[in-house]
Formats: sequence, structure tokens, C-alpha cells
Amino acid sequence: MPAVVLRDAGVADLGEVMVTMTEAFDPRFGEAWTQSQCLGILSLPGVWMTLARIDDRPVGFALSRIVADEAELLLLAVRPGDRRLGVGNLLLASVRDAARQRGARKLFLEVRDGNPARHLYDSAGFRVVGCRRGYYRGRDGGVHDAYTLESDLAQT
Ligand SMILES: CC(C)(COP(=O)(O)OP(=O)(O)OC[C@H]1O[C@@H](n2cnc3c(N)ncnc32)[C@H](O)[C@@H]1OP(=O)(O)O)[C@@H](O)C(=O)NCCC(=O)NCCS
Repeated sequence: MPAVVLRDAGVADLGEVMVTMTEAFDPRFGEAWTQSQCLGILSLPGVWMTLARIDDRPVGFALSRIVADEAELLLLAVRPGDRRLGVGNLLLASVRDAARQRGARKLFLEVRDGNPARHLYDSAGFRVVGCRRGYYRGRDGGVHDAYTLESDLAQT
């Protein structure tokens, strides 16, 4: 596995993040956020973003937030050419650690029904705690359900 460097990121990194966002998410499913959505949430308390780089190249990011003792992984993305190298797993582990350090007992996320990312979350010990019908709306008008997954940070 190549050396992956993780670091905290902020508004100044949004340009790079948006390149990854556009490459990583298929517009058919409506999972990607716009730059202004990211900008808006980054100004809120309890929100943090993590950037992954290989050889000083941005390859992925995670956007997360904590409210009281519950954290949420809002976005996780790795550029298509850099997948299956363990970057997603490293970002996820870093989010869990950071969430725990900030006092979270649980980590939640939404994943589209049929998204192969589900394999990553299943192997990391997440369990399904809900289903949201029509949560994602693609640019083509397609509607997709989402599962809510939960990981108990006290046990992992
Ligand atoms: C989901 C995503 C972040 C995974 O990133 P990644 O860097 O490829 O993940 P990793 O290499 O750390 O994968 C770790 C393990 O997760 C599982 N996994 C990851 N992607 C998988 C896929 N497409 N199909 C099956 N299993 C997969 C595998 O068990 C993998 O281990 P292995 O490669 O040794 O078999 C990436 O595919 C992505 O950006 N997808 C598009 C954006 C997205 O849907 N994000 C999730 C929104 S909830």
C-alpha cells in the first residue's frame, strides 16, 4: 500500500475536495454535495474534514460532524483511480478515532441502497438501524433509498 497522509482540512482545501467529489460520486444518484453546501456546513461547530493524500496528491476526503455524543459521517470519497488501496478504510478509522476523542459514543451514516461502499461499512462493523425511502434524488430525477448505519464507538 502506498504511503497515505491524512490531515485536517478546511475551507481553503475545498477546491481539491470538489475535484474528488465530482470524480467520486455518480451524478445519477444525487449523493454528492455542492461547494456551497460544503462551505455552509464547515462554518458550523462540531464539523471537521479530513483529507487523504498520496505523494502529495489529493486522493480522498471525509466530512463529519458531532452533535452531543453522536457523530455522523456525512461524506466519504476516494478518487476512482486510487480505490481499493485502503484509503477509504484509513479515512473511516480516522473519523472513528476523531469522533471518539470528541466524545462521541456512536457514529452514524447514510448509504444509498446498492452502493458498494456498504461492503466497507459492513466489514468495519456498522449495522443497519433504519431505512429512509427516497433519501437521494439523482439529477435525472431518479429516487433512491438510503440505509442508516450505526457503529458503537465504545465497542470498537
Ligand atoms: C466507498 C469508497 C470511499 C471506498 O474507498 P476505497 O479507498 O476504495 O476503500 P478501501 O480500499 O479502504 O476498501 C476497504 C475494503 O472495503 C471493501 N470495499 C471497498 N470498496 C468496495 C467495492 N466497490 N466493492 C466491494 N467491496 C468494497 C473491501 O472489503 C475493501 O477491502 P479489499 O480491497 O481488501 O477487498 C470509494 O469506493 C468511493 O469513493 N465511492 C464513491 C463515493 C461513495 O459512494 N462514498 C460512500 C458514500 S456513503
